[in-house]
Amino acid sequence: MCGIVGVTGNDNAVKILLNGLEKLEYRGYDSAGIYVNDQKGQDYLVKTKGRISELRSKVSATAGVHGSTGIGHTRWATHGVVSEANAHPHFSNDDRFYLVHNGVIDNFQELKAKYLSDVPFRSQTDTEVVVQLIDKFAVEENLDAKAAFLKTLSLLKGSSYAFLMMDREQPDTLFVAKNKSPLLIGVADGFNVVCSDALAMLKETHDFLELMDGEVVTITPDKVAIQDAQGNPVERKPFHVDMNADEADKGTYPFYMLKEVDEQPNVMRKLAQTYLSEHGVPQIDQKLLDAMQAADRLYIVGAGTSYHAGLVGKRLFEKLAHIPTEVHVSSEFAYEQPMLSKKPFFIFLTQSGETADSREVLVNVNDAGYPSLTITNVQNSTLSREATYTLLLHAGPEIAVASTKAYTAQIALEAILAKALGEATGQIVAQDFNVRQQLGLVATGMQAIVDEKDKLEKIANDYLMQSNRAFYIGRGIDHAVSLEAALKLKEISYVQAEGFASGELKHGTIALIEKDTPVIGFITQAKTAGLTRSNLQETMARGAKTLTIVREGLAIDGDDLILPDVDEMLMPLLSVVPAQLLAYYTSLNKGLDVDKPRNLAKSVTVE
Ligand code: AGP
Repeated sequence: MCGIVGVTGNDNAVKILLNGLEKLEYRGYDSAGIYVNDQKGQDYLVKTKGRISELRSKVSATAGVHGSTGIGHTRWATHGVVSEANAHPHFSNDDRFYLVHNGVIDNFQELKAKYLSDVPFRSQTDTEVVVQLIDKFAVEENLDAKAAFLKTLSLLKGSSYAFLMMDREQPDTLFVAKNKSPLLIGVADGFNVVCSDALAMLKETHDFLELMDGEVVTITPDKVAIQDAQGNPVERKPFHVDMNADEADKGTYPFYMLKEVDEQPNVMRKLAQTYLSEHGVPQIDQKLLDAMQAADRLYIVGAGTSYHAGLVGKRLFEKLAHIPTEVHVSSEFAYEQPMLSKKPFFIFLTQSGETADSREVLVNVNDAGYPSLTITNVQNSTLSREATYTLLLHAGPEIAVASTKAYTAQIALEAILAKALGEATGQIVAQDFNVRQQLGLVATGMQAIVDEKDKLEKIANDYLMQSNRAFYIGRGIDHAVSLEAALKLKEISYVQAEGFASGELKHGTIALIEKDTPVIGFITQAKTAGLTRSNLQETMARGAKTLTIVREGLAIDGDDLILPDVDEMLMPLLSVVPAQLLAYYTSLNKGLDVDKPRNLAKSVTVE
């Protein structure tokens, strides 16, 4: 999950590359580098271990770095440790070819042994094998850059890649190739850019060309020549990205995550405006509803937080639309597909629209000819383009690695969709469910919670800071939220947190409860409130420090966090917010990088 940028035909290439990499740092941030060429014989390669800020300092410290064409990369290590030597761009031993790459070359060891046994290597990466191979073909077979590039691509079996290459002998040209990993071409005024995500280049252009798998592109300042996997020229019109560049800024917030938690009330209102009439009637594409109505079972597929949003969606579809619904982790489903119903319909939940694990399933679903819907936050993303239908979350850019507003947006949109489907099939419960009113109450409730964030900071300090283990527990939909709550705490504060079905604890895991182990219980469903309280007592009897997150209508004296009442089916939209903030403050007060936690990246574009 690396970030790639490129530019040709602009004397501010260094600035454009560095600014673009900063916007892509959420995709990977363990090392970075740029290569620029001024097309007058001067070129510069600057690489560093660490963040873009360190690359920026190194560029400033290197005399005269400038250029009008260049490539840049920010890395999330797949092959090879985090080091300057493993940072991209990688280059051929004769200093002629420079290459940045996002993806994984499955057969790089085989290629290295077969073609490059006599070639010295500087790095442990699969990417360096590719650039040395290009050089070998160019020199030994006297091929031009493009022919050598194409010949090398033809040898990469089963690999995922977004390549951006430069040849010192053609300094105004960017050579691009894409397969499974995201890459866009930005068409600007008098120059062209390349990026993993439009976010990186919104200050330069809002018009982008999407690339399909197998396509190869040659880009100069005034020309973009796309060819398909068979070498045929491809004509394609740019699409316009509406997002404004400022939306992707932190503003006065210390971290994107806090900004994105605070944005959730407005995201609820935006979804209601977008997908509901003023009378609360869902505005959903009739063809999509018809396709879902024709199904006998829904399959929701996602990874991480998106999978957790699917667990809530299951309840919504089954309760409101009375359609059996399964939820699957994409990386499991891709390689161990369960027996499917006769008329399945697939829903892909994915904030980025680029998650390789989920896309792998979509490829299989498309091959099988099943209908699918992608719910995503990124317009024109891979999964959005390749599914039969797509719906956007309109949550605004989500930059923090820890997903927050996308999770609640996914659940809210599932609720709208479930109501629409339920009404279409005459379910009374759906007709009675006033989702517009409920989302309004949710937005107000979220606002009340985020307005009391100092209370949550105090709880985080008093309750979570001292522990390296914690449990979130709940039953039913509260269990689904406990999984998401635990992931938030784990991924940004590194506390070993588990989300657990509260009734299951006593079947073994309660052995882990020691004195002062934090155990946080979600109690938002009337039917299971008493049971979860008993389960909390069982942990308290063994020394746990318990905390309750309770729906107002179920609260009793001594409860810790009381949530406003909304329909029980939508309580996850409120109960997750304290958990997001507890994770945020635990991470913040540990002095960690909340937005860019170790080992992670925002968009996981490798399997
Ligand atoms: C969530 O906080 C994590 N960053 C991660 O689990 C994420 O939800 C997962 O990688 C799926 O990403 P997607 O929604 O873009 O497909």
